[in-house]
Amino acid sequence: MSAQPVRYDAVTVTERVHWIGALDPTMRTFDVILKTPNGTTYNAYLVRGSEGVAVIDTVKAERADQFFARLEAVADYREIKVIVLNHLEPDHSGALPELMRRAPQAKLYISDAAQLMLKALLNNNDIDYIPVTTNDSVSLGDCTLRFLNTPYLHWPDTQCTYLVEEGVLFSGDVFGCHYCDEQLFNDRVGDFRFSFEYYYAHIMRPFKSYVLSALELIEPLPVRLIAPTHGPILRDHPQHYIQRYRELSTPRLHLEMDRDIKTMIIFYISSYGNTMHMAEAIRDGAAEVGGFRISLYDLEGGEVEPFIDLVEEADAILVGSPTINGDAVKPVWDLLSSFARINVKGKVAGAFGSYGWTGEAVRMIDDRLRGLKMRVPLGGLRIKLIPGADELKDCHLFGRDIGEFLMGKPRAREIDMSQL
Ligand code: FEO
Repeated sequence: MSAQPVRYDAVTVTERVHWIGALDPTMRTFDVILKTPNGTTYNAYLVRGSEGVAVIDTVKAERADQFFARLEAVADYREIKVIVLNHLEPDHSGALPELMRRAPQAKLYISDAAQLMLKALLNNNDIDYIPVTTNDSVSLGDCTLRFLNTPYLHWPDTQCTYLVEEGVLFSGDVFGCHYCDEQLFNDRVGDFRFSFEYYYAHIMRPFKSYVLSALELIEPLPVRLIAPTHGPILRDHPQHYIQRYRELSTPRLHLEMDRDIKTMIIFYISSYGNTMHMAEAIRDGAAEVGGFRISLYDLEGGEVEPFIDLVEEADAILVGSPTINGDAVKPVWDLLSSFARINVKGKVAGAFGSYGWTGEAVRMIDDRLRGLKMRVPLGGLRIKLIPGADELKDCHLFGRDIGEFLMGKPRAREIDMSQL
């Protein structure tokens, strides 16, 4: 007996909208770093208006068969007037070239920032498209698609598209998560809260300020349903997810404090107490400047994970490590690698450490801090073995100078009389 061919049905979302995406339940790692224990979905949508059809986003090339089968179940390629790509990453643009070949009359709408990427991604300079930005719109007769420019969520090209008449927000990766359940809708699938929070933490968190800018555009809209490109379609309490993004993106420390005060965090780890004594002298020097809070953390006594929240909201980060086998020690690298998950660009930074022979660690930390585009006003401070009284004075000055830089105070200039 021959196996029955798999049927891919489109799913009704609203009166005008169908889901025509693809399920990928066996995916276990996404973009190399993201764990997907429940697989994922690539959501694409079809909108039917009185004067034509729009396709919003496509799917990964390897799942294109599902997408085209579902599309064909509810529309003819000749009806497609509009193709919208809210985001060009290959999991959403993979089926685009074939869709454009099958519907050559359709106009492609992308964000301004997507233009160069589109040509590079498709290796084609002759693609026809219309760049759009906030409040541009396209009519399908009795309904309208309006565009919202929401860059860096999480690529420069990202935008959202709003179906005005039904209050449907096609949000791209925003409000999405890697959670595969063929029941599709948030009121029918399992508990996906873990996936939603994990997705935000790994994809959107480094771009919190852009999330807040996007929310300024989204919150005034009467959103009745959120149709993201991954995970459940959010038709039950869509406002909950918008509020959650607002909570997750709002700096917490500044809400909890009754005044806006800067913070410096000094992380260190120490084999014989030498780097620790340096850290304490640096703290004392910084404290002399005043006007900001200073915290001292021994990396040996803490987990990296909870420190990420502190680093994200701190204004200055100093990192101290001994050199062991020509390198900084593992907890220091664990901390520094976690910085990639948040936005540390522009924070004041510095490195220090005691060493026995060669002392490479401080230079390596310095390079990493500069590589992250942090502001490093002073070269790293290295002290051989046990810091003596003069060397502790150097640490004190190091802390004071960085503190002054943090507070925007001009550094006092000492005039060397012998050079006059
Ligand atoms: Fe789902 Fe950024 O692609």
